[in-house]
Amino acid sequence: MKLNWKQWFRNFQNRMLLKLMIAILLMGLAFRLVFFRSTGLSSVLEEKSPFPEKTVLSEPPQPVQVQENEDQVPRKEKCDLFTGDWIPNPLGPLYTNRSCQSIESHQNCMNNGRPDTGYLYWRWNPRDCELPPFDPERFLEMMRHKTWGLIGDSISRNHVQSLLCMLSTVEEAVEVYHDEQYRSRRWHFTSYNFTISYIWSPFLVESAIFEDFNGVSTSEVELYLDKLDKKWTDIYQNMDYIIFSSGKWFLKSAVFHENNTVVGCHYCPKRNLTQLGFVFSYRKALQYVLNFIVTSNHKGLIFFRTSTPDHFENGEWSSGGICPKTAPVKEDEIELKDLNRFLRNIELEEFEKAAPEASRNGVNLKLLDLTLLSLLRPDGHPGVYREFHPFAEDKNIKVQTDCLHWCLPGPIDSWNDVIMEMVVNG
Ligand SMILES: *[C@@H]1O[C@H](CO)[C@@H](O)[C@H](O)[C@H]1NC(C)=O
Ligand SMILES: *[C@@H]1O[C@H](CO)[C@@H](O)[C@H](O)[C@H]1NC(C)=O
Ligand SMILES: *[C@@H]1O[C@H](CO)[C@@H](O)[C@H](O)[C@H]1NC(C)=O
Ligand SMILES: *[C@@H]1O[C@H](CO)[C@@H](O)[C@H](O)[C@H]1NC(C)=O
Repeated sequence: MKLNWKQWFRNFQNRMLLKLMIAILLMGLAFRLVFFRSTGLSSVLEEKSPFPEKTVLSEPPQPVQVQENEDQVPRKEKCDLFTGDWIPNPLGPLYTNRSCQSIESHQNCMNNGRPDTGYLYWRWNPRDCELPPFDPERFLEMMRHKTWGLIGDSISRNHVQSLLCMLSTVEEAVEVYHDEQYRSRRWHFTSYNFTISYIWSPFLVESAIFEDFNGVSTSEVELYLDKLDKKWTDIYQNMDYIIFSSGKWFLKSAVFHENNTVVGCHYCPKRNLTQLGFVFSYRKALQYVLNFIVTSNHKGLIFFRTSTPDHFENGEWSSGGICPKTAPVKEDEIELKDLNRFLRNIELEEFEKAAPEASRNGVNLKLLDLTLLSLLRPDGHPGVYREFHPFAEDKNIKVQTDCLHWCLPGPIDSWNDVIMEMVVNG
């Protein structure tokens, strides 16, 4: 079936009821998702703000100068960067497992022994325009004295590592801050006085999480939908560029608070609460987040990144799902799974509602809709090569597969091609 994004968007409400029931059933399959790095309660409650000293930018960020070469292909007025295809890229990635120190071991697929390398030789090609490859030197030059903040869950961490790796071909960043659990972190490029922060805030709103290191939870998440997570709001005005994202964590069992009252929950059969579902909580949380942003008087550039799909086949994270593909697929060969589509539809709807007010208020808010280009890369995940040489000792050993995060190097590097283009050409 051919993907038609706009149509999905419209059909959303009709299919809502059925999908919701399916979603709720799926929730029963204990979402141990990915998020092996999450935390226990105490660390959440005791977490300090990454940047206690609240400095206000002395001058608003300058508009980025466009320094185009005369001979470059003229771009269409409004090129849709998010619709396109993956095409062969014989040049391959900018960096390797050898050259970049920032790669999380679970995503260092080459180093972990992934045998195929074909997934490294593709680039994203928007249908209506040329997308130049990410140029780390030019990017760093443009970002002199600037600060970026990537705010979100472990996919945002995956993304920040990709960006650090691409930039490391010019200069290695120095880590200048990390919190106790090494979740939120900050790096500085000394020669450019350029700072990148990663702020771990998987819900963007306040939460109390009762999970151990393996993602096994002892109780529902307590979600405070109308209280934004101070970890990012405290430093929000200090950032020239922000990419925020959320999504997947809302699929976990949670009790919802709003206006200091418990209003309902998502998948909490043991509690006598109204089952409002994650559609309710994700929408509410995004509404509060977007309302904060559009009324913030922020002078920089803010990207709202859509959540990205997983590619588990024959199961899920916790039930033996796999991702054996070794090449990208075409739009008509794959469909977004229901849960991913739910998240995406909420994101698009809430963004569309918020965008006019952002523009009235002079807040530069852009949608970074990376869902489709990511959907077409089922080959880009670590799979079993999440672990170091998983079958070295026992060929039949059962290992955890990861079909959600991305190998580094890998398809997620192309996100930076798109972002650079949006920064350069608005
Ligand atoms: C990179 O991966 C290769 C295998 O492709 C491995 O031999 C090498 O040790 C790795 N290097 C680093 C620095 O991880
Ligand atoms: C480095 O950049 C920050 C803004 O991010 C600015 O406040 C500071 O003055 C800069 N430092 C130097 C030495 O230029
Ligand atoms: C919040 O709760 C208080 C009382 O508990 C009520 O007076 C107020 O109207 C509520 N506000 C909203 C926005 O629901
Ligand atoms: C569940 O809540 C409803 C209304 O809040 C109440 O009428 C009912 O008695 C409760 N049931 C149990 C088993 O506590």
